[in-house]
Amino acid sequence: MDQINIYSADEIISRIIVEDGIEALDACLEPYAAVYVVMDSNVAMQCPAAYELSQMLNRRGVPGMLLEVSEEAKSMETVMDICGWLLDNGADRDALVLAVGGGITTDMVGFAASLYKRGVRFAYVPTTLLAQVDAAIGGKTGVNFGGYKNMLGTIRQPEFTYICPQVLESLPMEAFQAGASEMLKTFIIEDNDNYRPAVQLLAELASEFIAAAEGNTYSYSMEKWPEILSERLSELTPFIAAAAKVKAGVVSRDQFEGGERRKLNLGHTFGHAIEALAHKQHNDIDHGHAVALGMVYAARLAENLGMAEEGFATMIEKDLDSCLLLVMSPYGVREMADAMGKDKKAEGGKVHFVLPRAVGDVVIHDMTVEEVVALLA
Ligand SMILES: NC(=O)c1ccc[n+]([C@@H]2O[C@H](COP(=O)([O-])OP(=O)(O)OC[C@H]3O[C@@H](n4cnc5c(N)ncnc54)[C@H](O)[C@@H]3O)[C@@H](O)[C@H]2O)c1
Repeated sequence: MDQINIYSADEIISRIIVEDGIEALDACLEPYAAVYVVMDSNVAMQCPAAYELSQMLNRRGVPGMLLEVSEEAKSMETVMDICGWLLDNGADRDALVLAVGGGITTDMVGFAASLYKRGVRFAYVPTTLLAQVDAAIGGKTGVNFGGYKNMLGTIRQPEFTYICPQVLESLPMEAFQAGASEMLKTFIIEDNDNYRPAVQLLAELASEFIAAAEGNTYSYSMEKWPEILSERLSELTPFIAAAAKVKAGVVSRDQFEGGERRKLNLGHTFGHAIEALAHKQHNDIDHGHAVALGMVYAARLAENLGMAEEGFATMIEKDLDSCLLLVMSPYGVREMADAMGKDKKAEGGKVHFVLPRAVGDVVIHDMTVEEVVALLA
């Protein structure tokens, strides 16, 4: 069992446990007298490890609520439904609310728990790669509001995040790719010699996926994906733990995003703009693809500012492409500029751009969108 801690000053405020299999979760729940579980309904139906988890919770007599997840349902109404369910089931101040699902589930359940009775304890079992390396770590909770993503929310730490890589065996390829993009983002922020071997593994997985499609249909290789991933899961696990450790370190140093934590937005300013434009035109683009494109733009910007060596952006582009994470950009820089200015992280006319100077070396650079357009267009 790998344990990674998140600290505030010298105090442990949250624990991340990386463990093969779901059994060890039982011991993690032992100290809590009353546990309430809220689970993504797709996970409950499709994920064998979650079935095992449900049986363990049934033996403990834990009441459960199923959530239908979507960005549309990531709303205050759903949070109130969760609070109503907790109330109906007699959850008290000593309750532990356990969220089992991807980032939508953990964000909403964390938010509901931080509101219910002025805040009860909560913990996560993240079931997507994105949630394991990012969303379920660091305490940001929230829902979409007023047409903006994650506009309402809190920063409050889960008691623990239990990462069991086996839950990923039922995760669809597109959802996996979103997490792969965030994982590589994490290693571009802080490398610790993980970036290159992680690209290598993800590229090999992508090649196996393409090979399965040859002579077959695309949906055939989609069906084969769980098998392809399962066989390489043990090689992926150390990278999941390493990425979780990087995020835990950043959050320990800057829990409330006063500075360093902004680095985690690498690729997201461009990425959010691309996602927002695509959504408006009813032509949605996957989060992972949008972030990957965003990282290439950020690398190009760093290069054009003379911060990164010539050829750096092309290297990042080729790496992401080899992992099947890159699509052609549907928008020019000018089109993205307006959407970037509207990003909620824009302050005083300037946007905090996260620029990679090299793998493992990123800086926050405040620029107006006009300056960005002039450098990239
Ligand atoms: N709090 C944070 O710091 C933070 C950071 C990044 C992203 N987020 C949020 O995370 C959300 C995205 O989360 P996500 O990408 O983890 O996924 P998700 O919760 O949107 O789930 C993606 C899809 O996969 C399904 N699914 C989840 N686990 C599965 C499994 N093991 N087997 C089969 N199907 C499964 C879900 O039902 C859903 O259909 C966004 O709303 C984003 O805003 C939060």
